[in-house]
Amino acid sequence: MAARKRASANTSSEPQPKENARPKSQEQASTDSPIAPPKLGVILKLTLFFSLPYFYLLFRHYEIEQEIRRSILINAGLSLAGFFITVKMIPVASRYVLRRNLFGYDINKKGTPQGTIKVPESLGIVVGIVFLVVAILFQYFNFTADSNWLVEYNAALASICFMLLLGFVDDVLDVPWRVKLLLPSFAALPLLMAYAGHTTIIIPKPLVPYVGLDILDLGWIYKLYMGLLAVFCTNSINIHAGLNGLEVGQTIVISSAILIHNIMQIGASSDSEHKQAHAFSIYLVQPLLATSLALFSYNWYPSSVFVGDTYTYFAGMTMAVIGILGHFSETLLIFFAPQVLNFLLSLPQLAGIVPCPRHRLPRFDPQTGLLTGTNDGTLVNFFLRQLGRLSEKSLCIYLLVFQAIACFFCFVLRYFLAGWYK
Ligand code: UD1
Ligand code: MG
Repeated sequence: MAARKRASANTSSEPQPKENARPKSQEQASTDSPIAPPKLGVILKLTLFFSLPYFYLLFRHYEIEQEIRRSILINAGLSLAGFFITVKMIPVASRYVLRRNLFGYDINKKGTPQGTIKVPESLGIVVGIVFLVVAILFQYFNFTADSNWLVEYNAALASICFMLLLGFVDDVLDVPWRVKLLLPSFAALPLLMAYAGHTTIIIPKPLVPYVGLDILDLGWIYKLYMGLLAVFCTNSINIHAGLNGLEVGQTIVISSAILIHNIMQIGASSDSEHKQAHAFSIYLVQPLLATSLALFSYNWYPSSVFVGDTYTYFAGMTMAVIGILGHFSETLLIFFAPQVLNFLLSLPQLAGIVPCPRHRLPRFDPQTGLLTGTNDGTLVNFFLRQLGRLSEKSLCIYLLVFQAIACFFCFVLRYFLAGWYK
């Protein structure tokens, strides 16, 4: 992470022994300044927007078994508690990370007074810890589980926890990006090793005459695919970043779409195993959404905290395991359409064909406060080149709306392809 490097380079060139550290009172005076309060109004509006269709589907539209509904509601209650704990803990953790010089400067405010403020980094660590506590405790209340599922559920939590650790390691140690790219494949191992679910894919109906099969068992190739999915989801969130609120915002939009997709699948299916798979996805996505909303209240423009690679990796891995355990990774990839696009635009720079600066961000004009697109291959720059100069906040809103459109398109596509495809 560049910011920490810069930060430590500014303070001292050599590691300081503990005895030489500044006196505690002086240190606290410089870091105790509280961060701006959470923007709870934004969160309330967002929550209403996404939760109304969700609760309508859960309570009114579909006849969902009492047992599953009860587990979903208990999980929602725990997630709500997780939201408030995360909101409370972020300012506390911010003081601690600042004390350890884990901060960044807001690049898109460079040249203005806001650009000189030390913004605490890696606050994804709070989200990750609260998420894990909620997800672990929830097992006690899940009345529909069979033990096979719990093995995979715990393996999924182990993968998420491992990813959180490696993300934090990246934030603190600033590993080279080629290593960074590989970290998620290690973190995915617990789930890949414990996965006992099917390794088959359903051949789309129109292709059946050509393939000669309607179900194809991929065996170990399926596990390889799961590993690659984890690598893609984590890195694609991490490189679609650099604007206040974008990292968390995209996660919130995708998680909401996952939630609605799951409830639709549970409501429309009569197969109990299929329902279980989607219920388990819900038990992981609700806490992810709740804790991410809490982080968003501090990270939305103007950011008073940064999320760090700790968060981008954690969120990407959580969504990947949710897609794997719920058996809807192809739908997940359509929800990730903007990230796929960003990844394709990034390829020449990531592959080293075109020079790649440390942060591939737009140019900020401190006079007007507007961003101009550069030639760096990112969706952020592509949007700016198409739409003209924009403020950071408007650009982020455009990108999040685009994300929501991609998710909506996925639902429309599924609706039209249902019956034809499977
Ligand atoms: C970086 C780049 C990405 C590039 C990738 C290749 C960013 C954010 N990420 O990710 O474009 O393709 O390497 O491996 O540019 N920041 C802001 N405003 C924000 C969010 C972040 O100014 O809203 C800045 C802060 O200085 C913060 C830093 O970005 O400290 C975080 O960067 P980091 O997440 O460490 O970058 P990478 O993940 O390495
Ligand atoms: Mg990052």
